[in-house]
Amino acid sequence: MLTVENLHVYYGAIHAIQGISFSVRQGEIVTLIGANGAGKSTILKTISGLLQPREGKILLEGEEISTLAPHQIVARGISQVPEGRRVFPELSVLENLELGAYQRKGKEHLKELEWVFELFPRLEERKNQPAGTLSGGEQQMLAIGRGLMAKPRLLLLDEPSMGLAPLLVKEIFAIIQEINAAGTTILLVEQNAHMALSIAQTGYVLETGEIVLSGSAAELVRNEEVRKAYLGL
Ligand SMILES: Nc1ncnc2c1ncn2[C@@H]1O[C@H](COP(=O)(O)OP(=O)(O)O)[C@@H](O)[C@H]1O
Ligand SMILES: [Mg+2]
Repeated sequence: MLTVENLHVYYGAIHAIQGISFSVRQGEIVTLIGANGAGKSTILKTISGLLQPREGKILLEGEEISTLAPHQIVARGISQVPEGRRVFPELSVLENLELGAYQRKGKEHLKELEWVFELFPRLEERKNQPAGTLSGGEQQMLAIGRGLMAKPRLLLLDEPSMGLAPLLVKEIFAIIQEINAAGTTILLVEQNAHMALSIAQTGYVLETGEIVLSGSAAELVRNEEVRKAYLGL
C-alpha cells in the first residue's frame, strides 16, 4: 500500500533521515520503533506532506505522493495523529472531531462520528466540553478520533503512548487494534517498543535516521539487540 524508497530528509544542514526504505501492506499494523531523536516524527511528517524529502520516493498504491500538498494527501486516504495530540483546547470535543472531517462533503462524516463515539464512549459523554479540560488519555482518544474523521485507509500514529499511565496505554493500544480490525492500515511510531511490537505484525528499528533492523514483530521481540536496547530484558 505504502512504499518508502531511499528517503532523505534534512532540516537545513541536519541530515535527519538518511536513506530509509520500508513498506506497509494493506491491512497491516507496521511499527517504527526508536529512541527520542531517531527520526520517527520526521518520517511521518514527510509522508503527510508537511516536510519535503530531498531525495527518495513515497508511493501510495504505486503513485508518487511526496510532491503533493498535505490536504491532497489527506484526500488520498492518509491521515496523521500527531505527537503530543495537538487538540485545540478552546474548541469543544465535537468541534475538534469535525475539524478532522473538514474535506468531506455534507453529512458524509456522520457515520465516522458515530463510530468514533462507539470506540470512545468517553468522547461522546464529553462532546460539548472544551478539549483542554480533558485528561491526557482522553486527549489522545480525541486526537485519534479526529484522525479517523477523515476516513483514512492508512492512519499514521505518532507515539500515542507518550505520557500516559500503563493502563491507559493498554486501553489505547486495544483500540488501535480494533481500528485495524475494522479495515484501516496502521503505521505506528513509538518509543514504547514493548507495546508497539505487541500489536504490530512488522517492525523496523530506527537509529539516528537509519533503519538498522527489520522483521516480523515476533522476530524482533526475540532479537538479542532489541531485547537489550529497547525492551529492557
Ligand atoms: N524543526 C527541526 N529543526 C531542526 N532539527 C530538527 C527539527 N525537528 C527535528 N529535528 C532533528 O531531527 C532529528 C529527528 O527528530 P524527530 O523526527 O523529531 O525524532 P523522533 O520523533 O524519533 O524523536 C533529531 O536529531 C532532531 O533534533
Ligand atoms: Mg517524535
